[in-house]
Amino acid sequence: MIVALETSCDDTCAAVVERDGTIRSNVISSQGVHDRYGGVVPEVASRHHLELVNDVVDDALRQAGATLDDADTIAVTRGPGLVGALLVGLQTAKALAAARRLPLAPVDHLLGHVAATELRPQAFAPPFLCLVASGGHTFLADVRDPGRFEVLGSTLDDAAGEAFDKGARMLGLGYPGGPALQRLAQSGDERAFDFPTAKGVAGLDFSFAGLKTALLYAIRDLGEDEAAARRADLAASYQRAIVEALAHRVERGLEATGHTRLALGGGVAANGPLRERMSQLPVELAIPPIELCTDNAAMIAAAARHVAPLPYPEYFGLDAYATGEGGL
Ligand code: KG4
Ligand code: ZN
Repeated sequence: MIVALETSCDDTCAAVVERDGTIRSNVISSQGVHDRYGGVVPEVASRHHLELVNDVVDDALRQAGATLDDADTIAVTRGPGLVGALLVGLQTAKALAAARRLPLAPVDHLLGHVAATELRPQAFAPPFLCLVASGGHTFLADVRDPGRFEVLGSTLDDAAGEAFDKGARMLGLGYPGGPALQRLAQSGDERAFDFPTAKGVAGLDFSFAGLKTALLYAIRDLGEDEAAARRADLAASYQRAIVEALAHRVERGLEATGHTRLALGGGVAANGPLRERMSQLPVELAIPPIELCTDNAAMIAAAARHVAPLPYPEYFGLDAYATGEGGL
C-alpha cells in the first residue's frame, strides 16, 4: 500500500491507496484562510501546511485502518507548485519514509492529475486524451500508456480556473470564483455578449488573457449601474467563452490524435456547462468524482505506481521544483 502526500498549493492532502488503485482513504484539508485575500498567499499556505500535515497524515492512516507498518512506499508531489508549500510535504514524506527505511516516490503533480482517472472504481485506462483545467494549470495531454503522457498544448497566460476566478472578481464575486460564477450565470443569457474564445490561437495552446480584457471593457462600457443590472448575462457569456475555448482545443486534439476516449481533470471539471458540453462530444468520456479532479493525494499515489521509487537513503537530498517543462 502507498501513503501519499500532496501540498503543492493550498490543500494539505494525504491518502492511502492500494497498488491496484483502490482508495482506502483520501483526506483533503482546504485552507479557507486564503479566501479573504482573493487568492492563495504562498507564505500563508506553507505555514498552514506545517500546522496541518501531521494531523492529515494521521487521519488518512486512521480512516484507512492502517499504520505506517503497512506501507511499502511513501509518495509525494515534488513539483510543479509553490516551492515553500511543496517542501513541507516533501520533508514530511522523507521523514516518514526514513523512519521505516521505506522507498520514496517523487511524483510530478501534472502526472497526478492525469493518473487520477486510473483510480478505482472508475479505473479509466489509457489510451485517452486528457484535459486538465485547474486554478494553477491548463493543459491537454496525449496519454498512450499508464504513467506516460505528452503535453499537446497548455495555457499561454492564465489557467482556466484563474480566468473563472478573475472574471468572478470583476463581477464582485468571492474567491474561489468558479462555483460562484457558475451560480450567477444560471439566471443569465449566455448569448448576451460575444466574448472571444481565442480560436485564432493556432495549435493546441490555450489563452484567456483576451477574454479577461474583454470582460473588463464590457463592464466599463456598460457603466456601473447597467453592469450591475446585467451581471448574470455577463457571467453566463463569460462562462460560455471559457467552455467553448476549452471544447475547441479538445475537439482539435481529438482530431489530431485520433483518440476516441477523453478524460477531464482539475477543479474546473466541476463546472456544469463544461461537463454538459464535453458529454455531447462523440467520445467515451471519463470525469472522476470531483474530489479526485481537484488537488488530492490519491492521484499522487496513483501516479507513484508508474514512478521508480528512490531507495532509502537516496532521497535525502531531493529538492522541490516550482515549474514543470514549459512552465505549465
Ligand atoms: O484543481 P483545483 O482545486 O486547484 C488548483 O490546482 O488550482 O482547482 C481550483 C479551480 C479554481 O480556480 C476554481 O475557481 C475552479 O477550479 N472551479 C470551478 C468550479 N469549481 C472550481 N470553475 C468553474 N466552475 C466550477 N463549478
Ligand atoms: Zn492541480
